[in-house]
Amino acid sequence: MIQFNNLNQEAPYVLFKKKYDDALNLGQISIEAISISSYNKEISEVDSRYVNLKFITNDEFIFFSNYNSPKASSFNSFNQIAALVYWPVINVQIRIKAKIKKTSNEYNQKYFFDRSEEKNALAISSNQSKPINSYSEVKANYNKSLKNDDLKKCPEFWGGYSFVPYYFEFWEGHESRINKREIFDKIDGVWKQSFLQP
Ligand SMILES: Cc1cc2nc3c(=O)[nH]c(=O)nc-3n(C[C@H](O)[C@H](O)[C@H](O)COP(=O)(O)O)c2cc1C
Repeated sequence: MIQFNNLNQEAPYVLFKKKYDDALNLGQISIEAISISSYNKEISEVDSRYVNLKFITNDEFIFFSNYNSPKASSFNSFNQIAALVYWPVINVQIRIKAKIKKTSNEYNQKYFFDRSEEKNALAISSNQSKPINSYSEVKANYNKSLKNDDLKKCPEFWGGYSFVPYYFEFWEGHESRINKREIFDKIDGVWKQSFLQP
C-alpha cells in the first residue's frame, strides 16, 4: 500500500490517486511496487530496479534504500530518474520522469524508529548489492545485527529518496485496442495536458 499525505491537488496527482484507488479496489497485488530507472554518468550505464513506494506526500514520491548502493551512486551522478508502474487489474501503465534527492536525516530517523526491529536489522546488516560468499553469511549478519545493534537508530547509510515528477504519462489499455495516452508535462511550473497517439 502507498500512504497518501496531504496529496497535491494538481491534475496528474489526482488522476494518479484515482487510478490507485481503482486498482486497489480490484485487489491489485504489490500495488506499491514501482520500477526506478537511473543513469550513472560515471560509467555511462542505465539500470532499473523495483522499490516499494511508501508515501506520496504533497508532490513527493518517497521510498527507502541504502545510500551506498549502486542506485545511490547513480542518483548522485545524475539526479533524473524514470519511474514506472503497471497495474494489470485496471490495465494502466503510468510513466513518470522526475528529479530525485535524499530525504533529511531527521525524516529518516523518525521513519526508522517506527519500523519493526526485523526490518531494521536487515537494513543495518546488509551492504546492499555488495558480493558475499553465501546466503548463510547474509543470514548470520542479519542475526548478529538483530542481537547486537541499536535497532532504533537509523544508520547514516540508509534512508529515504524523494522524487518530484515533472512528467506523467497515463496509458490505459482498451479492449478496442484504441488505447488512451494522456500526458502531463510541467512547463514553467504549469502542468500542460495533451494526448499521444497509441
Ligand atoms: C517488489 C520489490 C520491492 C523492492 N523494494 C525495495 C525497496 O523499497 N528498497 C530497496 O532498497 N530495494 C528494494 N527492492 C530490491 C531492489 O529491487 C534492488 O534489488 C536493490 O535495491 C539493489 O538495487 P541497486 O543494486 O540497483 O542499488 C525491491 C525489490 C522488489 C522486487
